[in-house]
Amino acid sequence: VNFFPDLTVELRDFCKSRLAISPWLIETGDRFDPAIFEILDLEAREYAASNIFEKDRIKIFGTLPIPERLFRTALYEIMSSTAVLLAHEQTGQLEVNEEHAKTAIQMVNNFIQKYDFATLLQIYGLVTSYENQNALAYYGLMPEREFLLGSWHRPWIDYNLSDELLLGVLMGNYQIVIKEGRRYVKLTDQGQENLKNTKKILKESGFLAHRLDMLHLFQFNLFDDFEKLAEELWPESMMLRRSFIDFTGIKPGMKVLELGCANGLLTFEGGLADRVGPEGRVISIDPSPAMIARAEAKRKELGIDWVEFYQGKAEELPFEDESFDAVIGFAFLHFTDCKSALEEMRRVTRYGGTIASFHPLKVNLNVPFFQEWFSPILELAAKRKEPPKDFLFHPEEVPEHFRRVGLKQVQHEEIISPAPFNQPEKVVQHYVQGLGWFQEELGELPWRARQEIIETLKKRGREVCNKFPKEELFMRWPAQRVKAQRC
Ligand SMILES: C[S@@+](CC[C@H](N)C(=O)[O-])C[C@H]1O[C@@H](n2cnc3c(N)ncnc32)[C@H](O)[C@@H]1O
Repeated sequence: VNFFPDLTVELRDFCKSRLAISPWLIETGDRFDPAIFEILDLEAREYAASNIFEKDRIKIFGTLPIPERLFRTALYEIMSSTAVLLAHEQTGQLEVNEEHAKTAIQMVNNFIQKYDFATLLQIYGLVTSYENQNALAYYGLMPEREFLLGSWHRPWIDYNLSDELLLGVLMGNYQIVIKEGRRYVKLTDQGQENLKNTKKILKESGFLAHRLDMLHLFQFNLFDDFEKLAEELWPESMMLRRSFIDFTGIKPGMKVLELGCANGLLTFEGGLADRVGPEGRVISIDPSPAMIARAEAKRKELGIDWVEFYQGKAEELPFEDESFDAVIGFAFLHFTDCKSALEEMRRVTRYGGTIASFHPLKVNLNVPFFQEWFSPILELAAKRKEPPKDFLFHPEEVPEHFRRVGLKQVQHEEIISPAPFNQPEKVVQHYVQGLGWFQEELGELPWRARQEIIETLKKRGREVCNKFPKEELFMRWPAQRVKAQRC
């Protein structure tokens, strides 16, 4: 049996079809309403009982014994995860209704029709063994009980991992070790090798990026205090939004597309809607449904009818070519696949129209209080002998991307603004949990380790804020505004 079949195409399609495996990568603690569980569980049981054939058994397990329950479990987990993702994308909440559950079942069925059940199960096997092996590699030894319950690395499951443990041991990837009268699970050398291969496949197919994307969307969607914290922790941000609108050269009567609008801070308070005025039109999009709902509520309250909000991503703009006079966004580009986003921005801008972005740049982390406070994250990167992954741009990157997609007359300006770091809980909540700064570092850790680092950051933050004088507790945050003409 080839445990590393080339599933690149299928995995890409899996992500593109918005299917998911365990998107409860953040703590929700919630379980389904019994009626919803019933729908998903029944479907998984019935489908698994009647649709797995001898050729599938051989394709997946070869000569290994087959834990029959795995078929149902895999289907249930994919269907229920997809239902949560769907509910979340549509409503901004994690609550699944009957409609979501049924649509998720249909989505999974469509995928099976296109490929086959065995392929779906192989994808499930790859992803879950990545979660298991990654956790074992991180912890070294994991108490068998914790492994079985998934409590350190897959707390969202509602069954135990005995089948996966047995298979892992039989395949030579895991080993049971007894130490001081307790049983532990350990990754073997072969298991380490296996992890490298699994990770490579998941990375190259874009699955890990998709996983990170989901994590980010989940977190940002649940970020209720965004507006308040943004104002407190970045006091010059509103002034920067307003001067960005001047910088773009947008004029009354124009038709403007705004990307990454969140709850409408640039749209309304930042002055975009006022600048364009009732003779013009603003269309603002954001992938986060909860933020869009808040922006729409604001619009209604203000009684502004020339602004519209939609859910959407910069990389896939649902608009005709050359349909806007200007396409702009404030503090969103670093969350996107920059090249695809700019290509799309260029496509939907008319000839002679403007494309502009304001985005934060990489900040100097070599500041004593910060080094002490954020050392749990900085050490993760130091172990790899690399700078921490924080998705922020170097100053030359975005102007270069602008030129590469064929934009002309690229102008850019760099600006530094202070970011006070004297409120430890709020700093961690805003930057790490909300905006997902260092998400790539944290996203690779097992679930419990991620929670622990967040708690440690809050605790260290309190200590550091007591130790350093208040005037030293801020970062000088560089940002950049870039604009160009489509010609
Ligand atoms: C820091 S907020 C900035 C919000 C707002 N423009 C402001 O002025 O404060 C970043 C926004 O980018 C959105 N975002 C994330 N990924 C995106 C993508 N691929 N395309 C467009 N927006 C995205 C997030 O959902 C979030 O609302």
